[in-house]
Amino acid sequence: MTQTSKQDHVLIFDTTLRDGEQSPGATMSHNEKVEIAGLLDEMGVDIIEAGFPIASEGDFEAVRDIALNAKNSVICGLARASTNDIDRCWDAVKHAPRGRIHTFIGTSPLHRDITGLSMDEMANKIHDTVTHARNLTNDVQWSPMDAIRTEHDYLCRVVEIAIKAGATTINIPDTVGYTIPRESSDIIRMLLERVPGADEIIFATHCHNDLGMATANALAAVEAGARQIECTINGLGERAGNTALEEVVMALKVRNDVMPYQTRIDTTKIMNISRRVSQVSGFPVQYNKAIVGKNAFAHESGIHQDGMLKNKETFEIMRPQDVGLAGTSLPLGKHSGRAALRAKLDEMGFALADNQLKDVFVRFKDLADRKKEVFDDDLIALLRDSGAAEQNERIKVKFLRVICGTQAPQSADLILEIDGVEHQKTCEGDGPVDATFKAIKELFPTTARLQLYQVHAVTEGTDAQATVSVRLEEAGKIVTGQSADTDTVVASAKAYVNALNRLLVRREKSAPDADVKTVKYTDAG
Ligand code: KIV
Ligand code: ZN
Repeated sequence: MTQTSKQDHVLIFDTTLRDGEQSPGATMSHNEKVEIAGLLDEMGVDIIEAGFPIASEGDFEAVRDIALNAKNSVICGLARASTNDIDRCWDAVKHAPRGRIHTFIGTSPLHRDITGLSMDEMANKIHDTVTHARNLTNDVQWSPMDAIRTEHDYLCRVVEIAIKAGATTINIPDTVGYTIPRESSDIIRMLLERVPGADEIIFATHCHNDLGMATANALAAVEAGARQIECTINGLGERAGNTALEEVVMALKVRNDVMPYQTRIDTTKIMNISRRVSQVSGFPVQYNKAIVGKNAFAHESGIHQDGMLKNKETFEIMRPQDVGLAGTSLPLGKHSGRAALRAKLDEMGFALADNQLKDVFVRFKDLADRKKEVFDDDLIALLRDSGAAEQNERIKVKFLRVICGTQAPQSADLILEIDGVEHQKTCEGDGPVDATFKAIKELFPTTARLQLYQVHAVTEGTDAQATVSVRLEEAGKIVTGQSADTDTVVASAKAYVNALNRLLVRREKSAPDADVKTVKYTDAG
């Protein structure tokens, strides 16, 4: 059995690759599924529901390959209440060091109508199919689909049958996202009290978010005794989605004082996997999504920014680093105050005298009134007018032309101005951005490692502004460059160069006497 201490350990069962992938439009390729499963395994997910093997040949192969690559996670496959489904599922998950069969049937009156089975006929089917699964493996999960809308007496009866037939985990799904926290905990409590053998198995909670209560309902079930939460990255899933993994895990971590349960999740891996799932599923993460949204650790209003600069705990209940972010973001906009502007300019390496700051602040407010967010490039343009910018822009993009299209290789022809001297280089690459980054690296070699490259469309339509973020790491120091342009490749080049300029400022700050010009420039001319 996979379950550890029933007292305080909550197992995390991730179903991004099954329930998540079922959301319309979220289909992932074979390799993407295997990659995501690897990330979930590394992150400490106890059980990965890798797919529905009978659904298609592709699903079968994905589950099998995920099983073959599994390290620590149990790999689970879904199967309807039929021996064919169950056999196919086992054929896929048996390759894992630990495989699980998850079989289910809809038990509510609505589902019994659809299948045309009487209560007794369904009870027999549950007995037979769970027994069949248990003859294949000793790790069997059973779900009464639509459990929340199933008559309580019947629910207790079928759960008891499944336990007697050998199920080791009983999952209680709120298939249509209908329940509320009190009811979610009452049902688990009732099953624990009424069903013989209930204390021998693990109860799981599987909530959908149709009324926006999936996280609250899952946590309520845990408080009543459930010890497995079924969830997905970014809350992906049928209709309004499932309980979001990042939300329940961080809630248990941040409010461990009132919910004293542990998970095995390495929370610092949350952001990375959230971004990757968003990329491969094509589902953007809502800006104000808890934990992983762009604004989850961003503060714009003057009062909040001022408070954050004095003491981060004023407006943050968890550290951004705990979910894998480099730090808090204080985006500059029309609500920002002078303290935030000064802090931002300091971070960019501009130490302005009070009168300069006063002047820049007036112009900044004027610009912020017209623009949603003021980016670093905008600030540099403002500073240029006051003559303070030049010292920090040692590298500038002077010219960029890329050749892209269906025929590889793509290439970039780039001119950078470095300390006032123009240098040119043409590079080929795997796409125009790769070619451009190669050219930058050739013209300005550093040991900095590219940690993150991210593109957001700020506006909609074919003339959308792309905002690009580039994060570089050098000797433990992390800098982020940003730029916006209607041309994504130009925005990418400028964001990279922006990050390099910041790196140079950092280097100067940490070794003010060092000769920063010792950096070797190559000029392929
Ligand atoms: O929501 C649901 O009921 C399910 C079951 C298959 C567990 O996803
Ligand atoms: Zn579901």
